[in-house]
Amino acid sequence: MTDRIAVIPGDGIGKEVVPVAVKVLDAVGDFVFEYAEAGDETRAQTGSALPEETRELAAAADATLFGAAGETAADVILPLREAVGSFANVRPARAYPGVDALHPETDLVFVRENTEGVYAGIESEITESVRTLTRVTTDAASQRIAEFGFDYAAENGYDVTIAHKANVMRRTDGLFLDGVAAVADERGADYETALMDALAMHLVMDPSDYGVVICPNLAGDVLSDLAAGLVGGLGLLPSANVGPDRALFEPVHGTAPDIAGEGVANPVATVLSAAMCCEYLGYDAAGERVRGAVLEVLADGPRTPDLGGDATTEDVERSIVDRL
Ligand code: NAI
Ligand code: MG
Repeated sequence: MTDRIAVIPGDGIGKEVVPVAVKVLDAVGDFVFEYAEAGDETRAQTGSALPEETRELAAAADATLFGAAGETAADVILPLREAVGSFANVRPARAYPGVDALHPETDLVFVRENTEGVYAGIESEITESVRTLTRVTTDAASQRIAEFGFDYAAENGYDVTIAHKANVMRRTDGLFLDGVAAVADERGADYETALMDALAMHLVMDPSDYGVVICPNLAGDVLSDLAAGLVGGLGLLPSANVGPDRALFEPVHGTAPDIAGEGVANPVATVLSAAMCCEYLGYDAAGERVRGAVLEVLADGPRTPDLGGDATTEDVERSIVDRL
């Protein structure tokens, strides 16, 4: 294993949790880590939140591990996702034994379209008090996320739900829904469709009815944070941004300014992102070992304060690395 992994800790707790994931990767493989800067602090120092050398490093590495950026998040993560060519954002939300979850049977995977929708970045100021936003939906991107989502569901044994709001956004979400459904029909794959607002309610009441949820960009962002709340908080949710040749792995959470610098951030989301990175690079056994160690630590402790414990980030790191 001599894969090159670009490491971009970013701001806030990104600087505290990314080093834990690097130690974990080091314990299970022989990776070359190349560090780069991005985020609020980088902007203050250099004038740019995402220096060109950081973008180039991510665009060339086999995989990228990213922490979080503060108020510059959109200036950092959107171009980084683009730099690695990612079109699918995979966000598993699972309840783990030992963690207080609203619904202990939750096992959801959001497969979020990662390039368009309302996050295409086309906003205008008509007048000072009237602003508009253009939502972009293409058939190509809808079919591409569908291919990815149905592959993932088949490989991992999940049912598929397509989230949409095509009854209101008839042209854009209509195209998304038709595009995803066409891929399913071509494969003879089963699926259900759900209006995204009603789906939010059903997910809170009975998440066990769902598996893979294929979503447009904004819906995937919101519903996956909702799912974080079902399983014990943002400190647990990993994610992968996958493209045809490279991928970027990051926790779903942000910089957590309320706890940054205290040494108590939960590193599990980032360590589970590292496990997804191992699997993406073809080291399934290493990924499985990391996930196994994390599950043991969640079950037996130590746990950070967000999970009701009093452990530090370092306590959890030591406990995970010891098991590896
Ligand atoms: P956040 O995810 O940073 O925090 C939300 C809440 O969850 C806070 O109470 C925080 O303490 C808690 N939390 C999050 N991760 C945790 C962890 N690993 N361990 C323990 N507790 C954790 O979201 P928020 O507050 O909306 O945003 C804070 C900053 O982060 C903003 O500047 C925002 O722009 C940025 N952000 C960046 C993202 C990225 O870089 N991908 C994603 C989301 C937010
Ligand atoms: Mg978000």
